[in-house]
Amino acid sequence: MSDVLFEVKTENLETGMRGYPVGYCITSVVDPEKGLFYRGHPLSELSHLSPEEVIHFLYTGQLGNQTELTRFCEELKKRARCSPKLLEAIRKLPREGHPMKLFSIAILLAGMLEEQIDYRTDALNLIAKIPEIAAAVINHHAGWNSFQESKPELGYIENFAHMLNVPNVNQEELTRVFKFFNVLHLDHGGGNLSVFVGKAVASSLEDLYGSLAASMNALAGPRHGGANQESLYFIQALLEKLGADVTEEKLENELRNKLANNELIIGFGHAVLRVEDPRATLLYQVSEQYYPNHPLVKMAKTLRKVGSKILQENPKISDPYANVDAISGVLLSVAGFPYPHYFTILFGMARTVGISRQIVYERLEARDGKGTPIVRPKYLFKQTT
Ligand code: MLT
Repeated sequence: MSDVLFEVKTENLETGMRGYPVGYCITSVVDPEKGLFYRGHPLSELSHLSPEEVIHFLYTGQLGNQTELTRFCEELKKRARCSPKLLEAIRKLPREGHPMKLFSIAILLAGMLEEQIDYRTDALNLIAKIPEIAAAVINHHAGWNSFQESKPELGYIENFAHMLNVPNVNQEELTRVFKFFNVLHLDHGGGNLSVFVGKAVASSLEDLYGSLAASMNALAGPRHGGANQESLYFIQALLEKLGADVTEEKLENELRNKLANNELIIGFGHAVLRVEDPRATLLYQVSEQYYPNHPLVKMAKTLRKVGSKILQENPKISDPYANVDAISGVLLSVAGFPYPHYFTILFGMARTVGISRQIVYERLEARDGKGTPIVRPKYLFKQTT
């Protein structure tokens, strides 16, 4: 007899498949009470590691000794450069519209122009070259046009920060924050929308690049990865109206007025989590460690406390706590990257790792190597007039 994992009742329909078990995820899991674990380890135990170390861990399941890590880093460096044809094609894209659209197209272009062999090779290739694709898209869209040559020998995120022509920035400070952001956003279980969409598209045997482009379109929405941008706008507006030294009482009044006007308090809640998002906790710690007096950090800190206090009063809200987006954009901004339009690209660049590895599992390793079948859920017919 197999175990019953979940019973689908009528009230479960049209609920975004919340809680439906679909398959296995080998890279990470999100526990409602404890948050994110990469390969069985809580994020807090791994957040001090370099992106390469954590990517290697997610990819292979091993923390790796020095020789294994060096070999993995060499593989990434070897595969890191985009062809001149791909970079040229990215630089010809129209600059109108949200940069996530360009990012998704750039990934499709990479699939069209760079050799496609199999999911495993393409996954490692795309993970290795995504920093150069992301930098090319951002530089082009922002008009930061004097392109820096890729130097993979600098390191995975060091090279990304070097290729980006961010104006007037302390490179070391920005690189440190980019690395931390990257490690925290690499993966988030098997059911977040972008990985689910990527795996669903790959289940048709669409190649890795097409599947990842679809994932990025899913990530772009404001209910998913696009939320980091919206969250920063929200905090900036509060800051402009109330000032950084606002009292908790004043902020509370402001938030209560917003709720009374049916406006959202942005940056709170999660579909799975029932505690503060541990990624947010780590980002708050770093923000307060390096930038305790920055007005945006002060406002984010007050909002963290007051926002969850108010939302906890509503029994219908299952997760009244801050999520990763409540603070990630603040930290990027104060570290010298005040460009909310590009935050979701940074998210997508990191998440390329988790999505690619999960696709490799579903296509080549699941069900004793047979792979999972094409995704084809059932919808019930409903007569409407
Ligand atoms: C994510 O990191 O993907 C988001 O928190 C959304 C999710 O897990 O559903």
